[in-house]
Amino acid sequence: MIPTLAFGTYQLLDPNPIICALKHGCTHIDTAQIYRNENVVKHALKETGTIRENIFITTKIGPKNFGYELTTKSFLKHIEKMGLDYVDMCLLHFPEVSGLEDDDDETVLKAFERRKGAWRALEKLVDDGMIRNIGVSNYCVNHLEELFLYARIRPVLNQLEIHPYFSQRPLVEYCQNKGIMVQSYGGLHPLGLLSDPLLRKLSKKYKVDQAKIVHAWMKQCNILIVCQSINDDHIKSNLEETNIKLTNSDMDQIYRLNGNINLYWNAEDVPALTSLRSLKKRKY
Ligand SMILES: NC(=O)c1ccc[n+]([C@@H]2O[C@H](COP(=O)([O-])OP(=O)(O)OC[C@H]3O[C@@H](n4cnc5c(N)ncnc54)[C@H](OP(=O)(O)O)[C@@H]3O)[C@@H](O)[C@H]2O)c1
Repeated sequence: MIPTLAFGTYQLLDPNPIICALKHGCTHIDTAQIYRNENVVKHALKETGTIRENIFITTKIGPKNFGYELTTKSFLKHIEKMGLDYVDMCLLHFPEVSGLEDDDDETVLKAFERRKGAWRALEKLVDDGMIRNIGVSNYCVNHLEELFLYARIRPVLNQLEIHPYFSQRPLVEYCQNKGIMVQSYGGLHPLGLLSDPLLRKLSKKYKVDQAKIVHAWMKQCNILIVCQSINDDHIKSNLEETNIKLTNSDMDQIYRLNGNINLYWNAEDVPALTSLRSLKKRKY
């Protein structure tokens, strides 16, 4: 079981928010190679005496480390720095491979080989017991279709920017129909979201703060959550269980807030092998 709410560690160089989250019952930490804060995660786990089996750790391979050898080596170094001998989930962070951003056929093919190599490396690390589950992040339908061409182990999860202003409903439904869990990041992030009049109205109706309304909406969409805070009260509040059940009408109204406001990475223009029509029928 993947714990519903993960505590995010992007740009975190201070272990105290993680320590606070762990002390308030957090059982899932989300990190990544590109956050370069392995020592901070390590310190927080040690400081709280967290028992390894009681915590779910997700990490991500940075796009500059895609490719069989690079992925394997960088992964092993990364988890060693965190003082871990396995992770519960490892994702490919973003489909675009660093240094291979052009969209001519040759570059698209090279990028494909690097993504494929990275996936093969994750599969081998699963076989070797170093990773329990593998998945992707920021993958659109074309990147997933490319992955399905060669994946021996199917992705368990796709971590995506999702919030009421960017609900990505077609992609979420595509993933869920394929049995891929969806996890949101940046859910509370957009400036002004938490003072949106609809969220204020629902906050009054259900007698909880707006962040809880957003999280309830996600849970009812069967979306897992990554959330970050450096404020102790917010950390504690985000981890509290609530029994809110939004009505269908409330859910629809939140969906109608979608304005395709994308704040983080957008992979829509990143070509996948399946974009190359002439190669579509080849076997990989
Ligand atoms: N896969 C990817 O490409 C990707 C990209 C970006 C992020 N992530 C992951 O997602 C995590 C979260 O990203 P994020 O920080 O953008 O999104 P977020 O957690 O949804 O938003 C964080 C913001 O919300 C505020 N906040 C948190 N809880 C609150 C509450 N209860 N009430 C009011 N405000 C609250 C925080 O301020 P305070 O600190 O003041 O509480 C902060 O400004 C990252 O740490 C990272 O692990 C993944």
